[in-house]
Amino acid sequence: MTDFVTLHEVGPRDGLQNEHNLIATADKVRLINLLGTSGLRHIEVGSFVSPKWVPQMADTAQVLAQIAPTDAQIAVLVPNMKGWDGFCAARQPKTDYQVAVFISASEGFSQSNLGCSIAESVDRLAPVIAAAQLAGVAVRGYVSCVTDCPFDGPTAPAAVARTVGMLRNLALMPVSLGDTIGHGTPHTVAAMLRAVLAETPAEDLAGHFHDTSGRAIDNIYLSLDMGLRAFDTSVGGLGGCPYAPAAPGNVATEAVLARLHADGLHTGVDADVIAQAAELAKGMRS
Ligand code: HMG
Ligand code: MG
Repeated sequence: MTDFVTLHEVGPRDGLQNEHNLIATADKVRLINLLGTSGLRHIEVGSFVSPKWVPQMADTAQVLAQIAPTDAQIAVLVPNMKGWDGFCAARQPKTDYQVAVFISASEGFSQSNLGCSIAESVDRLAPVIAAAQLAGVAVRGYVSCVTDCPFDGPTAPAAVARTVGMLRNLALMPVSLGDTIGHGTPHTVAAMLRAVLAETPAEDLAGHFHDTSGRAIDNIYLSLDMGLRAFDTSVGGLGGCPYAPAAPGNVATEAVLARLHADGLHTGVDADVIAQAAELAKGMRS
């Protein structure tokens, strides 16, 4: 098993989407440009979602237009065809993009975050995925609430495996498994991963841990033991989810890097640049 771990930086999106005060586009661009020089291969920079639902992400088109060229893949969240059209109008030449589509393993969070059932959310995504494939744009899936839901309580591992399967029936995309409210423990994450890994190879999965209970790094190490080599992290530990009450920050990129590098694992990411970016990110907090 490889000792290289891929980090997906989600701070500019999952981190900043939760900040109440609107952050200037220029500040977001400064943060993303710094992250773009760190060796990170994936940076999620915004969302083409309804500006009424998430006002902080309303300037994603301007962000795409203003960020400097980078070797990193630039990811954006797209929930429906309106979001896809917004992305198409904003995309820049010579940039490697990834469109991230997102559903929930629990009905309560699906209603809160997308205003529809899980099945309806998958139906909305089918044309987005078809359009992305036609346009040659990479697609990534997110499944939220993989251990616990703020509305429905614990999530059954079989429900997570089923929702991952719903996405991968549309296209064989990589899927990030979101512990949206950070209640997962190594015990519940292991049970969930056993169910998902029965149908999906580890190389197509990522772990996305929020750090409410301070268990995110334990959960990353458990996931590493079970074969995963990709994790979503947020510089400065920014984050949360506006539609998941009490969702705290994502696990901090700098904390994950420190542990992985100390344990001899490789990421290709420069911890000094990330430390500077973490300071910048923390200064953006409301
Ligand atoms: P809706 O209100 O049901 O949509 O929202 P609708 O189709 O009824 O349309 C209502 C209005 O929204 C219309 O405008 C549409 O044009 C507009 P109006 O006629 O009223 O002026 N609209 C849009 N505008 C811009 N972009 C769009 C768009 N779609 C419709 N794409 C919708 C449905 C999906 C849009 C809404 O529920 C939404 O935007 N949800 C996104 C919520 C969100 O971004 N949550 C945070 C990200 S998920 C997360 O953080 C979890 C994750 O990190 C993993 C984890 O931790 O688990 C990924
Ligand atoms: Mg999240």
